[in-house]
Parts: sequence; C-alpha cells; structure tokens
Amino acid sequence: MMSKHPIGIFDSGVGGICVLKEIKKLLPCESINYFADSRNCPYGSKAKEKALFLARKNIEFLLEQNCKMIVIACNTVTAVAIDRFRSDYNIPFIGMEPALKPAVLRTKTRKIGILATENTFNGRLFKQTFERYANGMEVFVQPGYGLVELVEKGAQNSGKARCLLEEYLLPMLAKGVDTIVLGCTHYPFLKDMIKRVTKNSVTIIDPADAVAVQAKRILVEFNLISNNSADPEFHFYTTGEKTIAEKFFCHIMSEPYGLEQVKI
Ligand code: DGL
Repeated sequence: MMSKHPIGIFDSGVGGICVLKEIKKLLPCESINYFADSRNCPYGSKAKEKALFLARKNIEFLLEQNCKMIVIACNTVTAVAIDRFRSDYNIPFIGMEPALKPAVLRTKTRKIGILATENTFNGRLFKQTFERYANGMEVFVQPGYGLVELVEKGAQNSGKARCLLEEYLLPMLAKGVDTIVLGCTHYPFLKDMIKRVTKNSVTIIDPADAVAVQAKRILVEFNLISNNSADPEFHFYTTGEKTIAEKFFCHIMSEPYGLEQVKI
C-alpha cells in the first residue's frame, strides 16, 4: 500500500527542517525521509540549471526510497524547477510559495518586507504571487545574502547574523514596514535574531504551517494518507557534516531516527 510509504522532504540544506517540523506535527502517522544537500548549499545564488540538476538528484534519491510524495522544502528550488518536476515525475509535489497573501492580511501600514534568495525573486512564482496579492501594497524585496551560509554553520545567533539582519531590515523599518515575510526556509532559524533586531516591532510570516496543511490536503486527495498509528519511521540524510545536521534534528525529534551522511 503506497499510503504506508514515507513522505520525502528535501532542501539545499537544513532549512527545510522547519517544514519537516510542521508536517510531523500535523501528520503524526506519517513516516518521513528528509534529505539535506548541505555540501552543495547554497542554491540561491547558483545558476538555475545547476540548482535544477542538484535538486533532481535529491528527488531521485528520495524516489529510490519509495517516497509517495515529495515536499520541496526550499523556496529556491520551487521557484526554479517545480513545474518541470511535476511534469517529469508521476508523483505529487508540494512546494514553497512566497507568503505574500498572509502578509497582506496582517499589515496595517500596507508596507511589507520580504527576505529571500536571488533565484526566488527572479522566479515566475514570485512575480505571479506579487501581482495576485500585493496590489496597492508597498513591497520591499531584499535578498538575504550570506544568511543561509550562517544558518548552515549553526551561526544563526552570531554577531555576523545580527550585522547582516540589521543591514537588511533596518532600512525597511525606517520606511514603515510592519510585516516581514520569510521567503527562504533557512530564515525561520533566524527568528530570534530578527525579533531582537526589529525590537519585536514587526509581524514575521513563516509559511511552513501552511505548507503542512497543503501536504495533508494532497495526501487526502490522492488517497495516500497513512492511518497507521503504529510507530512511523524517520530517516534523515545529509551530504554535509553529520554533527551539524544532528544539532538541528535533535531539537525537533523526541522519537528515534536515523541520520546518515551520503554522497549522491
Ligand atoms: N532553504 C533554501 C530556500 O528556501 C535555501 C536556499 C539556498 O540554498 O540558497 O530558498
């Protein structure tokens, strides 16, 4: 029965663990395989063809493990390649969408800031979402150069992270932004620092829980949802340092899991 197969989740690195956390919370009966391509991270500033090539390898790896659905827990890969993958593979794909819609509903100043990678801003999805939801809003886009690399090193609370966030966010605040969209799955790990830098003066929008809701909806629609309340299994893989990945996984896992370093 396909419904017992794991959900496959991948990201260029550890960022997608934020999405894994929400999926695990909403779908406690599901087994999950998570793949972090930390050795090749970041994807956000790579040529699109290169990011697409790497993402395809991640997908092939998860498909070899019989995953029933793939969650692209990476805004960059979603922007660059989700249409292509949906037409190439006969399996449902869930991607990340820049969360402008909830930001528009929350902002009072009608001024929204969005932090994401260059490839995400250059993608069709961002332009479409912008045109659809951000009418009449002032939207300040800011590539988060260097932030993904800091999170990958576990340096999300460092002085360097603070400096970069001050550089990116304080000009937005000065213009009246009251809502900031996290358009990259690595950035929720910077939430504490963002709160400090903005002195808790902004609403931070993280789309991870909405992605989990969408994953559940699609599993139901495709009759793939697992009703097996017996212990689900969790297998995690990284192409990077196991010790760093372990620090991220151990925060969200109270049950046993396997973590392997792999070369693909
Ligand atoms: N977590 C990825 C994203 O959401 C990071 C991008 C990167 O590797 O640069 O975009």
